[in-house]
Amino acid sequence: MSSSRILLVIGGGIAAYKTLDLIRRLKERGFSIRAILTEAAGEFVTPLSVGTLTAEPVFRELFDLTQEHDVGHIRLARDADLVVVAPATADLLAKMANGLANDLASTALLAATSPVLAAPAMNPTMWAHPATRRNVAWLEAQGVAFVGPEEGLMAERGESGLGRMSEPLAIVAAVEARLRPAAGALAGRRVLVTSGPTHEPIDPVRVIANRSSGRQGHAIAAAAARAGAEVILVSGPVALPDPAGVTTVHVESAREMLAAVEAAPPVDVAVFAAAVADWRVAEDAVQKIKKGAGGPPTLTLVENPDILATVARRTEGRPELVVGFAAETENVLDNARAKLARKGCDLIVANDVSAGGGGVMGGARNTVHLVGSGGVESWETMTKDAVAEALVTRFAAALRPRP
Ligand SMILES: Cc1cc2nc3c(=O)[nH]c(=O)nc-3n(C[C@H](O)[C@H](O)[C@H](O)COP(=O)(O)O)c2cc1C
Repeated sequence: MSSSRILLVIGGGIAAYKTLDLIRRLKERGFSIRAILTEAAGEFVTPLSVGTLTAEPVFRELFDLTQEHDVGHIRLARDADLVVVAPATADLLAKMANGLANDLASTALLAATSPVLAAPAMNPTMWAHPATRRNVAWLEAQGVAFVGPEEGLMAERGESGLGRMSEPLAIVAAVEARLRPAAGALAGRRVLVTSGPTHEPIDPVRVIANRSSGRQGHAIAAAAARAGAEVILVSGPVALPDPAGVTTVHVESAREMLAAVEAAPPVDVAVFAAAVADWRVAEDAVQKIKKGAGGPPTLTLVENPDILATVARRTEGRPELVVGFAAETENVLDNARAKLARKGCDLIVANDVSAGGGGVMGGARNTVHLVGSGGVESWETMTKDAVAEALVTRFAAALRPRP
């Protein structure tokens, strides 16, 4: 699964102004972007605008000692999961097709090993020219992907035809189709995700908590939203920002989490990634419990509602797909299988959260096992974002197709 780093090569065409919006749209979706500005591109947009939007240094010169020392043109090309050329001018396409390497952009393009997506933009006569036709055909044959150009009015007065650069959102869709194959897969679906720990009050200042950071649940909510779903995230107390494009409901305790889940509109997929406390204090104190002569207080615990089982066993309004999470410290798979049967859900995502499990709780990476009625599938260790993307692809595939 891709970690979604884009090398953006900006060519010297008037459409470079649209590339500024493209950067913003890609950043909104969580891509990290390094940009190379050709000399001609610098006539159309400033390095300041590009650098401010990418929040990265802007790369311009092949023979720049500082940048060559810090990153280097080969690493710049190799570090990316996708190279996007926008606008891809006639000149840049000609250089790419002929293997020229006489500036930073063309050298990086020649050194790149990741897939390349080009968004051409030029006057229709230039696009129709046999030299451009030949260059594009050759590049396509080498696996370079193209988005656009589109029909429309040119910057030149009165001219129209095939040559306009595709709109930023069309380029974003082409990027996502390559880096996030799940994009659009959940369009028209509603997804509920719970995430984070719960806090069970002992008194007004003390709680029973757990180490869940919410990173995996939040990543799933964000990935489902990117896949086109309407997403409701019910989050326990976490130190994470609300994901973009997601309706987030903040709760503290297990009972509040259940109430928020019950109040949500019907959903197609429900993912219970939150680490809900199994027990709460039978009666939390109204005033702060004072340290006193009576010694430490005795806390009587009672069981919390089982949110996963409550939803999985609904007779009416059950989501088509109910997914539970099992954080285990031992016998990960056996416990997950037992949980699948006990809760009545469709899938359990199991992970090892013991000290030997690689610091999953609060960490950035996760090793998960998918336990379903068909058996167990163990995935390699990935970032939590990559796990989220892959899970969302799974959820989309498991849903009955809509007529
Ligand atoms: C105002 C203006 C607009 C231009 N627009 C385009 C364009 O849209 N597409 C194109 O291929 N070239 C365009 N050019 C020509 C390129 O800037 C020129 O070919 C340049 O060498 C391309 O450099 P590059 O390889 O950095 O893209 C334009 C030139 C000017 C002066």
